[in-house]
Amino acid sequence: MIKRGNWNSRIGFILAASGSAVGLGNIWRFPYTAGKNGGAAFLVIYLAAILALALPVLLAEAALGRATGKNPVGAFKAIAPRGLWKSVGYLGVTAGFMILSYYAVIAGWTLGYFFKAVSGEFNRLTAAGHDAATMSRHGFASFTSSPVLQIILLAVFLGLTIYVTSRGVSGGIERWSKMLMPLLLGLLLLLMVRALTLKGAGAGVAFYLKPDFSLITPSVVIAAMGQAFFSLSLGIGTMITYGSYVKKNENLPASTGWIALCDTLIAVTAGFIIFPAVFSQGMDPAEGPGLVFNILPVIFAKIPMGQVFGAFFFLLLAIAALTTTVSLLEVPVAYFIDERGWPRRRAAWIAGGICLVFGIPAALSQGSVGFLTRLPLVNTDFLSFWDLIWGNLVLSIGALLIAVFVGWIWKSGNALLEITRGSGRFRPAFLWVIAIRYLAPVLILVILLSKILS
Ligand code: PFF
Repeated sequence: MIKRGNWNSRIGFILAASGSAVGLGNIWRFPYTAGKNGGAAFLVIYLAAILALALPVLLAEAALGRATGKNPVGAFKAIAPRGLWKSVGYLGVTAGFMILSYYAVIAGWTLGYFFKAVSGEFNRLTAAGHDAATMSRHGFASFTSSPVLQIILLAVFLGLTIYVTSRGVSGGIERWSKMLMPLLLGLLLLLMVRALTLKGAGAGVAFYLKPDFSLITPSVVIAAMGQAFFSLSLGIGTMITYGSYVKKNENLPASTGWIALCDTLIAVTAGFIIFPAVFSQGMDPAEGPGLVFNILPVIFAKIPMGQVFGAFFFLLLAIAALTTTVSLLEVPVAYFIDERGWPRRRAAWIAGGICLVFGIPAALSQGSVGFLTRLPLVNTDFLSFWDLIWGNLVLSIGALLIAVFVGWIWKSGNALLEITRGSGRFRPAFLWVIAIRYLAPVLILVILLSKILS
């Protein structure tokens, strides 16, 4: 039997799982999704979704992983050997491939922007009198529409991901996740102070904090719920996989609480940077996926030593993205290791190679190829479309099925035995059972249906 990995230290799981949770979802996806969906109204629903839906599902995934010691397919099989449940595991493995394939494209942008910052491009454009809007036309659009560059950056990022993943659980993933998260948070707080002191920042704060509840539609609710699951890496079995490497004496409720807190704090902070900056520059908060890449360079150009801060920031963002891409690749890799008996290295290279192939349409969808940039029928680019399908719908459906599975098939009583192992007690046990058996399944279903019917 092939030896499975383990987290080495007590906080190894917290750091690695936070490394998975904190990523582009917090700093790139959260602000632009909030910007497109009403700002403060979105924030309220998002926070409610984290507490009522995502946190209980996170605990359920981690417990399922630790109890079975398996990848998502193996975990479902271990508890329900017959029947269709294992297909939820297969759906997760497939989603791992698909999400990684476009996520790595955005991750490649962070590398590209790191080099731009180092070269002083932001300062040059600002000095030449460009404001945020023209900067985006000059910088972002021409950058993302260069096909060769986009594919190279994608390949480089996947190469890094494969390298770390093939080094194994504690040697690769855990080592990289340590230290970097606090560093990223520190830099974010610094940028927040700068953004909040920009002229006109108040309008951004109001947009972010003063909810206009008339803006809430089924689309807003589904976007907020999808973002909550996406941000905590739920619904596809990433946390089942990471939970499978947790030692039995670790306190799961406390660990998952820290992970959710850390993730939410970083996303909310990102909003306090982006919205004040967007409004101070007279930009449109609803402009979409380019939002962060257009606005941050403007701030860097406005602060002393902005070139250094800018370079440092995009480097940290790339590292935050790397600890996430590693977790996405780990889902299929763990499957190939456990279920197919492949050595880790081979699993990592083959799974990463598949992601490269699937990533190409996403890489070419930001201006390089007309058809992919504006897909017929759906009227959006391939990357955004893929994110909607896999990063929102499949993720939410996955979370729904995992909640039903843990609450009703494995049974919440058995799950609670696993949850309290290592911690002894879990005060909100009753609330968790309500959330996982009733609240999560019903709410997710209603939200998905209301979107389909609207
Ligand atoms: N949580 C990651 C982020 O916020 O960037 C994205 C993600 C990772 C989503 C793993 C889903 C997943 F399974």
